[in-house]
Amino acid sequence: MGFLSTLLKGREDGIRARVRRRIFGGGGPQSSPTRPAPPPPPAPAEAALGLHPEAPKDVTPPDGYEVVLHKDALKPGHVTEIIIGGRAIAVAHTHEGLRACSNTCPHADGPLGEGTLTGAVLTCPYHGWEFDLRDGSCLTNPSAKLPIFDVKIVGDAVCVKL
Ligand code: FES
Repeated sequence: MGFLSTLLKGREDGIRARVRRRIFGGGGPQSSPTRPAPPPPPAPAEAALGLHPEAPKDVTPPDGYEVVLHKDALKPGHVTEIIIGGRAIAVAHTHEGLRACSNTCPHADGPLGEGTLTGAVLTCPYHGWEFDLRDGSCLTNPSAKLPIFDVKIVGDAVCVKL
């Protein structure tokens, strides 16, 4: 009987059950009364990092710069990826202040915004190459270089020259 019921009504979490719930509501005649509520959406990366919800909009950045973050958004020792002007950059809060670099690792395109930060050294999450964010030098492979972008704080805004 269970197989026949499933064949006719569909699975409890299948598309037919979802359509029935949408039509008849959550407690519709065909839905399961014990179906658990869906899990809450995952916390956005911004919340996990303690990022301020938005970069200030009332700041005019210097020529060639873009506003990327609120100045208090990134906790010390954290790094994050930001898409700005169609480009992915990584912004890190080092012990010497905020630094910005390309988000793309020169080794094999690893996402440096997901790397780990120790002092001013950013470690790629893919294969562990280390980069000094003060000058972009690679501590693992001296022939590699990471593009570094100039950072200025204007009012409450972190501005990056792209
Ligand atoms: S992709 Fe970054 S170390 Fe390999």
